[in-house]
Amino acid sequence: MRLIITEKNIGDWAAVHVAKRIIEANPTPEKPFVLGLPTGGTPVGMYKRLVQFYKDGILSFENVVTFNMDEYVGLDKDNPQSYWRYMHDNLFDHVNIKPENVNMLNGMVKNEEEEIEECRRYEEKIASYGGIDLFVGGIGPDGHIAFNEPGSSLSSRTRSKELTKDTIIANSRFFGGDLTKVPKVSLTVGVGTVMDAKEVLILVNGASKARALHYAVEEGVNHMWTISALQLHRSGIIVSDEDATLELKVGTYRYFKDIEANNLDTDKLIEEFYAKYKK
Ligand code: F6R
Repeated sequence: MRLIITEKNIGDWAAVHVAKRIIEANPTPEKPFVLGLPTGGTPVGMYKRLVQFYKDGILSFENVVTFNMDEYVGLDKDNPQSYWRYMHDNLFDHVNIKPENVNMLNGMVKNEEEEIEECRRYEEKIASYGGIDLFVGGIGPDGHIAFNEPGSSLSSRTRSKELTKDTIIANSRFFGGDLTKVPKVSLTVGVGTVMDAKEVLILVNGASKARALHYAVEEGVNHMWTISALQLHRSGIIVSDEDATLELKVGTYRYFKDIEANNLDTDKLIEEFYAKYKK
């Protein structure tokens, strides 16, 4: 697993990485690039930068297919807090992605049967593309990846999952601080669904995620910190800001800073990206 501790901006680092992967894959309608995506506060900067790359004519989403990680149960598309709305506001409405290439879980399932059917449909659709090329995600303060809360099976697939009190509190900031307005259940890809992607890129920011980052990097694989499953992935990358490293040992911090020394200056990475790909 790589750990990139950026000095400046995790969103910029992630955007350059995602854009390079899409460009270098040279996707076509027959062989699109399949991208897994998160919502939340963390990836907003990445989406802004990806939109800028599109507007600058460097990056096209024409042959990109997306699968989002999760959706709240009970929020329809028009709800301002739905992940459907979030993704359209932050990315899809600003780039040339084809609506039929956008895949999101439908949170408006009415009963358990519909839930199971929706999750089965999602897994089958992912499989129909030959899997996900790059899954981008964030983590919660409790180490959840997608909405795989502590204790989730590390080989889980897409299913419904109750949100923990911790997650409801953390996400209440998007619901005017009102805990009662945060949905209690989500549909979410499983840890196994994420780990099946050819590459996984996880964004970690802020001191509230420091404990989770410690467990992800310095402790063993454990279902109580579902992000730790990334240790078993062949191509796992965590991009973190300085604040999120507060619980790491000095030795761990210095080790990763040292081996990634040439990859940490995001201004330079953006400059090099434009120099290489801007026609
Ligand atoms: C979102 C998701 C969650 C978030 C996590 C962090 O699609 O699956 O795992 O990535 O809760 O959220 P933020 O970025 O708001 O701190």
